[in-house]
Amino acid sequence: MPRLADRMQALPPYVFQSIAWQKAKLTARGADVVDLGISDPDLPPAPPLVATLAAATARPAAHRYPPYRGTAGLRRAVADWYRQEFEVSVDPEREVWITLGSKEALVHLTLALVNPGDVVLVPDPGYPSYRMAGSLFGARTVDVPLSPAPDFLPNLGAVSTADAAAARVLYVNYPNNPTGAVSPLAAIRDWVAFCRRRDAVLVSDLAYAELVYEGRAHSALEVPDAKPYVLECLTWSKGHSMQGWRVGALVGGAHLIEAVGRVEANVNAGVFVPIQVAAAEALGHDHPDVLRRRYRARRDLVVGRLAEAGICIPAPAGAVYCWVPVPGGDGDRVARAALEAGVAVAPGSAFGPASGGYVRISLTHSEAILERGLERLQAVLAPNLAARAH
Ligand SMILES: Cc1ncc(COP(=O)(O)O)c(C=O)c1O
Repeated sequence: MPRLADRMQALPPYVFQSIAWQKAKLTARGADVVDLGISDPDLPPAPPLVATLAAATARPAAHRYPPYRGTAGLRRAVADWYRQEFEVSVDPEREVWITLGSKEALVHLTLALVNPGDVVLVPDPGYPSYRMAGSLFGARTVDVPLSPAPDFLPNLGAVSTADAAAARVLYVNYPNNPTGAVSPLAAIRDWVAFCRRRDAVLVSDLAYAELVYEGRAHSALEVPDAKPYVLECLTWSKGHSMQGWRVGALVGGAHLIEAVGRVEANVNAGVFVPIQVAAAEALGHDHPDVLRRRYRARRDLVVGRLAEAGICIPAPAGAVYCWVPVPGGDGDRVARAALEAGVAVAPGSAFGPASGGYVRISLTHSEAILERGLERLQAVLAPNLAARAH
């Protein structure tokens, strides 16, 4: 057998692919499995954007290689969106780079920023790609615990002085996956100051910027003079339901964008131009309001059903998840039992070593599917809840 690279030892199977395999195995045996684990929006993108994509695809020139950094039109639309949403001015020429979604951008920016042995600070719980990207490139990932509900903000005080001094990157993500928390600007100011003091980079993942139910999302670029220390990741996957299209953007200091862009241009060849045409149009469209209303109703449904079952969680202020502490504290066991009972949920341990006491439910499923899945989950949790009551 040909040997694999040593770095493959630092690369576990992707957790949601593993869940999909297990689900496929059960389904092949005839089981009916409802998947509340994965976050794959069921609500379609706005129909006019699909029409724009189709029309743009009909142009012969559309099929050529795209510009490396993205079309001027989409980069300008991103800059306009920053001005409207955050009152922040960004230069579409030097401070924006269009990416194939944010997952690959997170890996490429980490490749551009860290040397083997460097420290990267990853939230626990947090989106698994931060940890994966750090360890893939030989960095030492140091967990930053999030404060208790409902704030769920990174507790940088828990990081040792030595690790903080060695940190090259701090990853943050608000509105937050998996907790649904939205960060106040004051917290973002602290993270920028933390990074500035150490010449580190604040990677702010804005994947859910459009999906806020209470309060509002903030850009780290609202903090004065933050730009040289900030890279922000945008995506059209969740706020526009365009996850299959693979389009995102990086925004930040010109020297950081240049470095990540150099990786991007060497590794891939950009986003299909018609997708960029439709993505630019999406930024002026009110479809995120439509999605937000649906997700809010689903959030209230899930929080209500959980409360009826005896599990009270604060209603998440943003994103598309409910982060559920499980009675007994063993989220892996609950996720396994739930899958056997016909409902997939994401085990908390997928989001960090200190998060095993939770499971995550995604709201990207119809109300009927959520109801069916929650009924099954309730049946799994009932014995533990009864034991807790005694
Ligand atoms: C916090 C966060 N960042 C990034 C991504 C990746 O999104 P995409 O690659 O579709 O842009 C996700 C996907 O669920 C996410 O939850």
